Amino acid sequence: MDRDPTLKDAYRMSSQGDVKELYRVWAHSYDSGFGDSQGYQLPRAVAQAYLTAGGTGPVLDVGAGTGLVAEYLIRGGVDVIDALDLSDEMLGVARMKGFYRHLIAADVTAALPMVSGDYRGVVSAGTFTMGHVGPEGLIPLMDAVKSGTLFVISVNAAHFESAGFADAMNGFAAQIEGLTFADTRIYDDRADDGHRNDLARLIVFRKA
Ligand SMILES: C[S@@+](CC[C@H](N)C(=O)[O-])C[C@H]1O[C@@H](n2cnc3c(N)ncnc32)[C@H](O)[C@@H]1O
Repeated sequence: MDRDPTLKDAYRMSSQGDVKELYRVWAHSYDSGFGDSQGYQLPRAVAQAYLTAGGTGPVLDVGAGTGLVAEYLIRGGVDVIDALDLSDEMLGVARMKGFYRHLIAADVTAALPMVSGDYRGVVSAGTFTMGHVGPEGLIPLMDAVKSGTLFVISVNAAHFESAGFADAMNGFAAQIEGLTFADTRIYDDRADDGHRNDLARLIVFRKA
């Protein structure tokens, strides 16, 4: 890709190779060219939901990207945060901010033997969305963490419907407790036409 990516590009990725290439190119301009210019407010909403639910560190930030969620978690008093992401370049930007204890380059849809079972929480903003990760990404996370771990996962609301998240959550019923859903705007009024009112569904639960 020889130009800065757009939201439209991001939503139509069809392979993991595409996703890696997208974020390789996007990493250097993601915070200002996407986060600020589109009024991307989902990271704050995810961090706030985690804090409101009583979340503490250590927490794993899945699809952490450049560290936008960690910034709000740290402001809320969370002391230890690890980042997991497919993109070395996004993790490279995150590294420079110094928010994370460990940076884990990994695919969340595959087994995660490198993920410690000691987390008290798992958060994710903007990763479970079109062209990125479907409900299959929840399985390795559930397998990796211990009982009682708090999850706050954002799922693009249209993707929630089309990718089968409702069925997936039903399938987890015996393994989770305290499941709640809440919809929140992903962007503010600065977003491109057609995306200004896009919603994410925040899925909050604990592993039983
Ligand atoms: C829209 S960005 C969100 C980044 C950050 N959480 C935020 O809210 O700004 C999506 C991130 O998910 C990562 N990602 C996509 N597919 C992934 C996968 N299968 N495993 C791990 N990370 C993935 C991308 O590399 C990218 O950094």
